[in-house]
Amino acid sequence: MKKTPLACIILAAGQGRRMNSAQPKALHKLAGRPLIGWLLESVDALHPLKTIVVVAPDCGGLAEHLGDVEIVVQKNPLGTGDAVKAALPALGGFEGDVLILLADTPLVSSATLRRLIEIRHCDAKTGLSVLGAEFENPAGYGRLVLGPGDGLERIVEDKDATAAEHKIKTCNAGVFCVDGSRLAGWVNRIGNKNAQKEYYITDLVTLAAAEGVRAHAYITADAGEVRGVNSRGELAMLELELQNNLRRAAMAEGATLTDPDTVHFSWDTKLGRDVVVEPGVFFGPGVTVADNVHIKAYSYIEGTEIGAGALIGPFARLRPGTAIGDEARIGNFVEVKNAIIGPGAKANHLSYIGDAEIGADVNFSCGAITANYDGVNKNRTIVGAGAMIGCNVNLVAPVEIGGGAYVAAGSTITKNVPADALAVAREKPFIKEGWAAQKLKGKKTGGQKAAGKKS
Ligand code: UD1
Ligand code: CA
Repeated sequence: MKKTPLACIILAAGQGRRMNSAQPKALHKLAGRPLIGWLLESVDALHPLKTIVVVAPDCGGLAEHLGDVEIVVQKNPLGTGDAVKAALPALGGFEGDVLILLADTPLVSSATLRRLIEIRHCDAKTGLSVLGAEFENPAGYGRLVLGPGDGLERIVEDKDATAAEHKIKTCNAGVFCVDGSRLAGWVNRIGNKNAQKEYYITDLVTLAAAEGVRAHAYITADAGEVRGVNSRGELAMLELELQNNLRRAAMAEGATLTDPDTVHFSWDTKLGRDVVVEPGVFFGPGVTVADNVHIKAYSYIEGTEIGAGALIGPFARLRPGTAIGDEARIGNFVEVKNAIIGPGAKANHLSYIGDAEIGADVNFSCGAITANYDGVNKNRTIVGAGAMIGCNVNLVAPVEIGGGAYVAAGSTITKNVPADALAVAREKPFIKEGWAAQKLKGKKTGGQKAAGKKS
């Protein structure tokens, strides 16, 4: 069958009042990715000739997330029908299939959209197809009033439905595939005589029927993918469902999650085989983990690549721009930001490593840090392979420690240290024997009591 050209219209201009947010609803996130990002991925997979996104006049930063689309402004949010009307000039008499989608229904898959498009072409008399799903609790959704077969007689909005119609569980998911040559004619005839005084895109079905053109429903078996997001509660419910899917996928791909319900993934988290993730681990966007990595409990990781066999946490924080080498160890209360940690290097306890390159097998001891910020600029620290950075060392950047060098515990290093050298930068110890005993003569202190106590 010859493929009909496709255009997509995404409606994102509603007020999203139920979110109670200063931010457009389409920018709220699911698994670390804006709603609109999820939808655009499914839409792009269909390779439409054009994609039009309808936005509100004050859409606060939404445009930056849209990439290569045409943006159209709907001046007043008079309803989904009016939003499509606003897109008609940009559509410019397009005669192929027009897919209409809602920005607040972000998880619909490209496979489902393809099926919806096929159904619109099921026979010559069908001018549009509508995506639907069965919801156990359909409150709030428009209901599909089905005729024989999957013929669709009309769509009734929740607020306009009779008691009998409220019992229908087959709902409108809000996605339409419409014959582009007829769309404008129908949209221009949509009225607003309904409970909300809004122009409903759902009226397309009856407007088509009046011309003898049929509508068909496609009821997806996966109701989860077409759940709408109207409130933060619904956003949280969708997040939960998505997280469960991401957890199952990670385990299917060979990762062990010791307490799956407590691990939070981002949409793009990539775990290798035989990775172990302990409870309470959070993956922000941009994390890739190679095989055999062990991530201990309560670690927070974003924008980081972790090499094979590395050991992370517990309580590690890895921030964007970080690459952890194979077999490296990043232990408890260690923060790494925008730094490359060489293979086999260790920072096992209480360190901060920022804007740095740490060579292979370096030992970054307890409490050692890079002082990367001088109040104005961020500066780099470079530590050569095999160097030993002692406890509580401050490496004041910009600074370079040569390979194999030793930096003594407690040193504050402000100058480069050559390879294989020893650097000590701390006060000489001052010890006066008997000083304390003399000072405290005749006074009983807790320390003396403990020291004199017989066991
Ligand atoms: C809509 C459908 C309903 C369906 C449900 C599925 C209509 C009339 N109702 O209801 O049948 O079951 O989605 O989730 O279509 N928008 C605009 N401009 C406007 C109004 C809305 O761009 O003037 C956009 C919104 O930003 C949103 C989408 O359209 O992304 C849906 O609007 P919303 O008000 O959430 O519709 P629902 O009441 O959920
Ligand atoms: Ca909605």
